[in-house]
Amino acid sequence: MSTPELLRAAPTSVHIDLGERSYPILIGGELLSDPATWAPQANRKAVALIVTNVTVAALYGAALAAALEPHFARVRTLALPDGEAYKDLAHLNLVFDELLGQEADRRTVLYALGGGVVGDMTGFAAACYMRGVPFVQVPTTLLAQVDSSVGGKTAVNHPLGKNMIGAFYQPRQVVCDLGVLDTLPDREMSAGLAEIIKYGASIDIEFLGWLERQVDELRARRRDALAHAVRRSCEIKARVVGADEKEAGLREILNFGHTFGHAIEAGLGYGQWLHGEGVGCGMVMAAELSARLGLVDAAFARRIEALVARAGLPVRGPASLSPQRYLELMRVDKKAQGGDIRFVLLDGESHASVRTAPEAVVVDVIAALTASA
Ligand code: NAD
Ligand code: GLY
Repeated sequence: MSTPELLRAAPTSVHIDLGERSYPILIGGELLSDPATWAPQANRKAVALIVTNVTVAALYGAALAAALEPHFARVRTLALPDGEAYKDLAHLNLVFDELLGQEADRRTVLYALGGGVVGDMTGFAAACYMRGVPFVQVPTTLLAQVDSSVGGKTAVNHPLGKNMIGAFYQPRQVVCDLGVLDTLPDREMSAGLAEIIKYGASIDIEFLGWLERQVDELRARRRDALAHAVRRSCEIKARVVGADEKEAGLREILNFGHTFGHAIEAGLGYGQWLHGEGVGCGMVMAAELSARLGLVDAAFARRIEALVARAGLPVRGPASLSPQRYLELMRVDKKAQGGDIRFVLLDGESHASVRTAPEAVVVDVIAALTASA
């Protein structure tokens, strides 16, 4: 389908089935500035608060506010500073300051306009304010459209661990406007591809093959390729979250690459490597660990590494982080149990499970996959 055709085509919708907390994920070309998109949460007596950051506010804040105006008594916008470094309790409090300053009541709807940082913070604010008000995800990065806006994980970081303070709290609606990806920096596009590769590498081998064929088209932002990648990713995530909303088991596999990746992010200081870059390199390390433990063919690990590299992501860890530092950081991972680090490992091609691994092998893998100083 050509771009103009896709713009005219009706948006597609992926349903996330969680009983009374079910919601649609709308995916399409020009959704954000269309008032009809926002009709489902309309309440002429309520306040709508758009929570965004300074970068995204300048690009899309006015268009979203204008599209929400017909549906609410008042629309306000709060622009937080931009960056993972501000995903903390101090900046979360600014959302509460705004809500209380506006005398916002329980009918207030929060709109998370931005990437995963804004989405995670806004969702957590919505979960906490007056013990829970509705919120809508309006993801504007590829990573947020394929992963963070879906499934209800919300959180802020703590200096001792990423996303350590948060809640499971589902949005009422997710709106993925593919048009907003046109302004996304290339580095952020690659970061989003990491989470898409994750689905192919650990869950869906057919999708992995499609990604290998389409990765250049995706990097070039071909709208039809993006539409398929976002839809398929959301379908896979919806299936997993529908079966295990609160990560009692199955959902843990969505963390493929994240144990190593979070250690890199935290070890370097949040904001140095992008989350998706940590996940990209983390998947290479997790695949190599799986191969060294004899769980998957080494050739499959090479296949993952090649795709991660073609997506424009790092495949070697930073020289400044020692294996010992990874181990310290990985012990505070949310999957850790009783001090044992647990990894999402490949136990077949595009098949994963959560396991422990001998520390010596983990150290060897990190050492082998660290860039030389
Ligand atoms: P981000 O939110 O920091 O956004 C990346 C950058 O892109 C920012 O500078 C932002 O201002 C800018 N930006 C956003 N949309 C833009 C647009 N359309 N045009 C131009 N610039 C734009 O990063 P991210 O990669 O979206 O999200 C990473 C965060 O998501 C991490 O904090 C991670 O922990 C979290 N995350 C959460 C989940 C979950 O399930 N909740 C899953 C994965 C990641
Ligand atoms: N990003 C992993 C999850 O949502 O479970």
